[in-house]
Amino acid sequence: MAVIETVNLTKVYGHAETAVTALDHVNMVMQAGEFVAVMGPSGCGKSTLLHLIGGLDRPTEGCVRLEGRDTSRLSDTQLTELRRRKLGFVFQFFNLMPVLSALDNAALPLLLDGARPEHARAKAAEWLHRMGLGARLSHRPRELSGGQQQRVALARALVAEPLVILADEPTGNLDTRASDEVVGLLRQIADEAGRSVLMVTHDPRLAAYADRIAFLKDGRIVDETRLSGDRDAEAQVTREKVAAL
Ligand SMILES: Nc1ncnc2c1ncn2[C@@H]1O[C@H](COP(=O)(O)OP(=O)(O)O)[C@@H](O)[C@H]1O
Ligand SMILES: [Mg+2]
Repeated sequence: MAVIETVNLTKVYGHAETAVTALDHVNMVMQAGEFVAVMGPSGCGKSTLLHLIGGLDRPTEGCVRLEGRDTSRLSDTQLTELRRRKLGFVFQFFNLMPVLSALDNAALPLLLDGARPEHARAKAAEWLHRMGLGARLSHRPRELSGGQQQRVALARALVAEPLVILADEPTGNLDTRASDEVVGLLRQIADEAGRSVLMVTHDPRLAAYADRIAFLKDGRIVDETRLSGDRDAEAQVTREKVAAL
């Protein structure tokens, strides 16, 4: 069964003359363990797509199914719970709590969900180790590099063992090397843990880590390409496609 399915997913912001159709009947399916990159020009609806799939906003028309369940039928409380348990978010600006240590930042979703603090911290430590941050548990975000902060955010996104990771330009503030580390970790998570990853990126080189690229334009999916695994060749083809959008 598909982990995520969008059915005619549509989002219109505003009304009448000021109405903007950010997403226009998008149908897409993601399987468990699949890593999908979303590309397209600024304003084409990439963030809106992630917000709707993530239950941060509700569609104007159509629906999102998570493990076959229509999320638009859920109450706000149920949606919040689903978000906390099934979805992990990673953003361009790492959105870490400045006063908390790396460990407590990563443990936060479990703590908010009422887990025992020892259990939450043990889980967080496990993920931080996997992210290569075993020696940074008590550091505050400002004591970490951008790449390290994003890896803390990744540990936080994974700590509740979600089905799906939604990453909106997660490397937008990182240099090339840190970007490769973060996207390499997303690739690993999809491969080893069987989680689905949906990542927005502008960089064809990073999109080439995915299994598939969905190209968005004016709120519609205009092309979906399955990748061969030859990352250099795929990046080149993708560069040409992006330029032609
Ligand atoms: N909260 C909002 N209110 C009104 N318009 C919005 C809102 N969020 C996004 N939009 C508009 O919807 C379109 C898609 O935006 P977005 O999904 O952020 O694009 P992308 O992430 O691809 O740059 C843009 O035209 C944007 O201006
Ligand atoms: Mg965006």
